[in-house]
Amino acid sequence: MNIVGQRARRPDALDKVKGTARYIDDMALAGTLYAGVLRSPHTHARILRLDTARARQMPGILTALTAKDIPGKNIIPLIQPDQPMLAETEVNHIGEGIALVAGEYRVAVEAALAAIEVEYEPLPPVLTLEEAYEQQRIMAHWKIRRGDVKAAFAQAAIVIENSYHTPYQEHAYIEPNGMLAQPDGMGGVTVHGSMQCPFYVQKAVASILGLGLNQVRIIQMVTGGGFGGKEDAPSVPAAMTALLAVKTGRPVKLIFTREDDMTVMSKRHPGWIKYRSAFTQAGELLAVEVLYVLDGGAYATLSPAVLWRGINHAAGPYRCPHAHVDAYAVRTHKAPCGAFRGFGEPQIVFAAESQMDLAAEKLGMDPLEIRLNNALEVNDETITGHRLAGSVGLKEVIRKVVTAADWSAKRQSYAQSCAGSVRRGIGLAACYYGVGLGSLGRFLNPAGANVLVSGDGSVTLAVGTTEIGQGMVTVLAQIAAETLGSPMECVRVLPPDTSQVPDSGPTVASRTTLMSGNAVRAACLEIRGRMKPLLEGKSLPWADQVRLCVENQVHLAAQGWATPPKTTYDPETGQGEVYITYSFSANVVEVEVNADTGEVLVTRIYSGHDVGKVINPTTGEGQIEGGALQGLGYALVEEHAVQNGRIINNQFSTYIIPTAMDTPEIMPIIVEHEYAWGPYGAKGLGETPIIAVAPAVTGAIVQAVGLRLFEIPATPERVWQALRRKEAG
Ligand code: MOS
Repeated sequence: MNIVGQRARRPDALDKVKGTARYIDDMALAGTLYAGVLRSPHTHARILRLDTARARQMPGILTALTAKDIPGKNIIPLIQPDQPMLAETEVNHIGEGIALVAGEYRVAVEAALAAIEVEYEPLPPVLTLEEAYEQQRIMAHWKIRRGDVKAAFAQAAIVIENSYHTPYQEHAYIEPNGMLAQPDGMGGVTVHGSMQCPFYVQKAVASILGLGLNQVRIIQMVTGGGFGGKEDAPSVPAAMTALLAVKTGRPVKLIFTREDDMTVMSKRHPGWIKYRSAFTQAGELLAVEVLYVLDGGAYATLSPAVLWRGINHAAGPYRCPHAHVDAYAVRTHKAPCGAFRGFGEPQIVFAAESQMDLAAEKLGMDPLEIRLNNALEVNDETITGHRLAGSVGLKEVIRKVVTAADWSAKRQSYAQSCAGSVRRGIGLAACYYGVGLGSLGRFLNPAGANVLVSGDGSVTLAVGTTEIGQGMVTVLAQIAAETLGSPMECVRVLPPDTSQVPDSGPTVASRTTLMSGNAVRAACLEIRGRMKPLLEGKSLPWADQVRLCVENQVHLAAQGWATPPKTTYDPETGQGEVYITYSFSANVVEVEVNADTGEVLVTRIYSGHDVGKVINPTTGEGQIEGGALQGLGYALVEEHAVQNGRIINNQFSTYIIPTAMDTPEIMPIIVEHEYAWGPYGAKGLGETPIIAVAPAVTGAIVQAVGLRLFEIPATPERVWQALRRKEAG
C-alpha cells in the first residue's frame, strides 16, 4: 500500500491552525436574527401560566414562541418519545427550554426573555441516582443471564465484593453548541451548525416542523469537538432555530453561552456499580454478579443505548463463563445525560478493572499475571457469548505496554520506596470496545459515500459522517486515494450535507473509519473497475489516466454503500454476537502521590491499542493522546458540584480539565490485528483510549500509598481525606 498506513498530513489542519476554518459563529447571512431561549429556573415544576404577549410587542422583537406554536410533534425523536423541544405543562430540569424569542439585537432578545410571564408551581424533585433507583424510576433495564452464577460462586476460591461511584464528566468541547437556520424559499429549511450527526438533526427538525426529510437540509460546519456531546443533543438547538426561522421568514442564529451549554447539554452519566466477582485459586475469573446504575437525568435521550454498551462490556476484556448482570438507567430531575466517548464503558470498566486488581492482591498475584490469565483470545467467548473469530490483539497489546513501561522492574522498585512524602506507583488496566452500533443500533448501521472524479483528476468525496477533530477527512482521503490509485492531494472531502448522501447513521461508536471507509472504498473500486479496461498495459500518471477515461466517456462517479455483517442479540439473556468486531486496549500509568497533600501527579501513560490496520498512524496517535488525557481528567479532577439539582461549576474557571501543563508523557502503542471486513483491515480507535485510564490511575495510587479508591475523581481532597481516614484506622 502506498497511502494507507502513511503519516499523511491532515487536509483540515492548516485552516484550523490559522483560524481560517469557518465555524458556525463565523457564518453571517444578511438579516440574521438573534435567538434566545427562556429556561426553567426549577428542577421540577408545573407551568401554571406562560404568556409571551408583552415580549412580542417589544421593540426589535420578531416573535416569541412556546410549545403551542410547534406545527409538528413537540418531541425530540430518539429512543423513547419523552423529551419535548419546549416544555409545555411541566419542567423536569433546570435550564429546560420553555419559550423562544427572535429579535434584531441581543439586548432586545434579552429584554424580551425577561418580559415573558411565567408562573410555576414547584414540585418535589428526585435529585440523586440512589433516590431514583430506590423509587424505581427506571427508564431502561438490560440484563445478562449467562451460565450458572450460583454454582460458580459456591465453588470460588475467593469472592471480591465492592461498590463503586463515578462522576459526571463534561465533554468540554472548545466550541459551544450553535446553529443557524434559514428558510429555503420553497417551504423548507436549511440548518448549518456544529454537530456530529446531521441525520439525527434532520429527523428532529423535520418531525418538529412537520416537514418531509427532503424539505430539511442539514449541513455540518467545521465543528470544534464533540466527544459524544454533539451526537443527539444538537437536535434541540437546531429545531429551535429552525422553528424561529420558519415563523419569521428570516435566518436565525443561536449560539449557546458556555454556562447554558454546561447547564443543559448532555454529559457523562454518573454511575454506581455494585460488583461481585468469583475467582479460582489460580486467578481465573469464574463469575460476576453486577448491578450497574446510571443517572439518566430527566429524559431518556441515549441512556438506553449507553447502558447497553456498558452491560455488554461488564466483565472487561476477559473470559467470563458465568454472569448475572442487571443494568438500569434511572430518571432524575437533572439535565439528560448521554453519549460521551466510551459510551457507558468507563464507569463499569473502572469497577471491573479495580476488581481484577483486588483479586490479584488477595491471591498474591501480579496485576499483569491475572489479566494475562483471563485475557480474551481468538475462539474465546465474551460475556455476551460472542465467540471471537479473529482480530483479537489484547495479549499482544498488554505485553507491548508492559514491556515499554518496564512494568516488572518498576513495580518492584516502587514497592520498596514507600517512605517520604512523594511516593511512586504503577498501575495497569485493560478494556475492549465493540466497534460500531451493534445489534441494538443495526438500523442506523449502513453508510454511504459519493465519489466524483473530475476531468482534471481531482476527486470529491461526499460522506454522511462528520469530521469532529478525530481525523475522518484524513483517513477517508487516504482510503480513496489508495483505492483509486490517485495522489492523496487530489482528494477533497466536502462538508456533510444531508441532501447529498444517503443517511449514513451517526458519527459515533468508533464506526467512521470502518463504515464510511468501506463506503468510500466501494465507490472507488467501482470507478477503478470502469477505468481499468482503458488502462490495460499502460503506465500513466493519474491525471493522464483520468484524461484518457474522460475522452472515452467513462462514468467517473459512483455511490458506495456499506452494510455490516449480521449481529444477534437475545434481550432475555443478553447473549449474542452483539458487535461486528472489537478493538482492544491496555494502559500502564505511573504516578507520584504526595502523601501530605493528597496530590496525584501522573508522570507517564503507556497506552496500547489493537485497532486493526491503522490508516494514519499520526491521527491514530492523536486519538490516543487526546483520549488518554481526557481519561486523566475523568480519573483525577473532573466532576460537577451539584446543589439542589443545580450545577454550580458551569464554566471553565470552575469546571477543571487537564491542560498542557497537566499532560504527562503519553506513549501511544498501536498493534494491528487486521479485521477482514474493515477497509484495509481497520477497526476503530475513537473511544478505547479513554476507557481504561481511571482504573490504571487508581491502581497506581494503591501501589504508591496503599490506598484503594472506590470513587473517582482522585482529587487531592478525596485522596487526602482517605489517607487521613486510613491513618486513623
Ligand atoms: Mo460517541 S460517545 O459513540 O458519540
